[in-house]
Amino acid sequence: MIYLKTDEEIELLRESSLLVSKTLAELAKIIKPGVTTAYLDKVAEEFIRDNGAIPACKGYEGYPASICASVNDQVVHGIPSEKAVLKEGDIISVDLCTLKNGFVGDSAYTFAVGEVSTEVKRLLETTKAALFLGIERAVEGNRIGDISHAVQTHCEAAGYGVVREMVGHGVGRSMHEAPEVPNYGRRGAGPLLRAGMTICIEPMINMGKRGLRFERDGWTTRTVDGKPSAHFEHAVAVRKGKADILSDFGIIEDVLNNQK
Ligand code: MF3
Ligand code: CO
Repeated sequence: MIYLKTDEEIELLRESSLLVSKTLAELAKIIKPGVTTAYLDKVAEEFIRDNGAIPACKGYEGYPASICASVNDQVVHGIPSEKAVLKEGDIISVDLCTLKNGFVGDSAYTFAVGEVSTEVKRLLETTKAALFLGIERAVEGNRIGDISHAVQTHCEAAGYGVVREMVGHGVGRSMHEAPEVPNYGRRGAGPLLRAGMTICIEPMINMGKRGLRFERDGWTTRTVDGKPSAHFEHAVAVRKGKADILSDFGIIEDVLNNQK
């Protein structure tokens, strides 16, 4: 069952999604060598609560923290830890969800810690570009497969592995609603997109092979070959003619650009 949202509901979802982006921008200010992912989790949780919202990941199916912090070969769902100390040249994907106005905001960004290699920069740029190519297809009359195909072909052409075990999803009053939004697929296949559908598009892209393994903590996923993985996620409302992006990387990148 796909829930179509009214314009009023989309504005409430936008508010929640923008709070996720603002939280990621707060983290952008403090991500540097020496910081632990447990500290990032604490800062995020306080910021979310100070803004009248609830960190929706905490307690979700037993997840123990407010953010997912996945470093280097960790693909997604890395659990924040005092032992995870960031160092120069790492990448860290931060994925977090807020519950505000009864709607779940959900977005993710992969940050470079200090200077990263040219190879890693290319992975980050390609993954983010693939997300925006997918978003371009999120218009009424297209199908989910059009989004999936755009993401997959862009990343595979760059020689990267596209993760299949986890996918994007509908979003609204629940974190995960129908439909699934895979990052691989065929043009013209899958559910029809209609104005008022709200979905999260979230490519998880490996520099090497696409294979994953799940750690014994029940959450963390890593690449099988130990190479790094990137993850960017936006919440998007499907519209006629042009997709409406509800989260915002602009406020995160303003912080990052001011550090240069
Ligand atoms: N934000 C993730 C997603 O994109 C879900 C996080 S899993 C959780 O679907 F358990 F941490 F919430
Ligand atoms: Co998501």
